[in-house]
Amino acid sequence: MVMMRSLCSGYKALVIGASGGIGAAVADCLERDLRCDEVFHLSRRHFAGFDLRDPESVAAAASHIQSRDAEIDLIFNATGALIIDGREPEKSLKAIDADAMAAQFAVNAIGPALLLKHFHTFLPRGRRSIFASVSARVGSIGDNRLGGWYSYRASKAAQNQIIRTAAVEIARLRPKAVVAALHPGTVKTSLSDPFAGQRDRLTPRDSAARMLTVLDGLESPQSGGFFAYDGSLIEW
Ligand SMILES: NC(=O)c1ccc[n+]([C@@H]2O[C@H](COP(=O)([O-])OP(=O)(O)OC[C@H]3O[C@@H](n4cnc5c(N)ncnc54)[C@H](OP(=O)(O)O)[C@@H]3O)[C@@H](O)[C@H]2O)c1
Repeated sequence: MVMMRSLCSGYKALVIGASGGIGAAVADCLERDLRCDEVFHLSRRHFAGFDLRDPESVAAAASHIQSRDAEIDLIFNATGALIIDGREPEKSLKAIDADAMAAQFAVNAIGPALLLKHFHTFLPRGRRSIFASVSARVGSIGDNRLGGWYSYRASKAAQNQIIRTAAVEIARLRPKAVVAALHPGTVKTSLSDPFAGQRDRLTPRDSAARMLTVLDGLESPQSGGFFAYDGSLIEW
């Protein structure tokens, strides 16, 4: 049972990618939190025309939510993709394809940048707020020992840089805000199914609850960091 004690009582939350394995579990945890007043769901399923690859659709989704409520205390981005248009992650340099790489950047890096652009203004100025974005440990350059997956790794590394940069800017007007990149663990969802093999995977609910607990414990000086579901800091 998750309780976001660091947020005000009656807080509002928005889960972007609420149709996904992890996003749905995050939304469910928040809906069960007695301190939470309302959870907005955003995804291609919940908002017609919404697609991270279409910048205008991101702006339109933000305007739609703005017309319902101005302030959202917790924004959780759980969007992302590993296989796009049937293209599997690259095993070698010879598999690199410019269009496939551009698609990865569109969803995993530019998409989160557009979400920050259009949604950070929903974070209240005078009290604590959180903008979290699910990245992936494989986006860590320092932690890369296995190689492969060029486009996904690079797009997540770019997302991490965008999160870090946004944290610096957002802190100027919202000094109590926490902006964080997260690694959810290896989680049993359709994204990881093709690559799971015999690996142990977290359930979406366990991953979601653990990430929310980590976020609840982060202080504003930790804003701009990259954290795993167990609370450990991941190197860039
Ligand atoms: N599962 C893991 O083991 C694992 C490990 C490390 C990191 N991650 C990261 O965790 C995040 C969530 O992944 P998941 O495992 O929950 O996968 P998932 O079940 O496939 O969910 C992905 C979510 O992203 C949305 N999405 C994908 N492309 C989109 C687009 N172009 N426009 C708008 N929304 C789009 C999906 O929407 P639709 O439902 O409309 O397709 C869905 O809501 C991703 O960022 C992933 O990289 C996962």
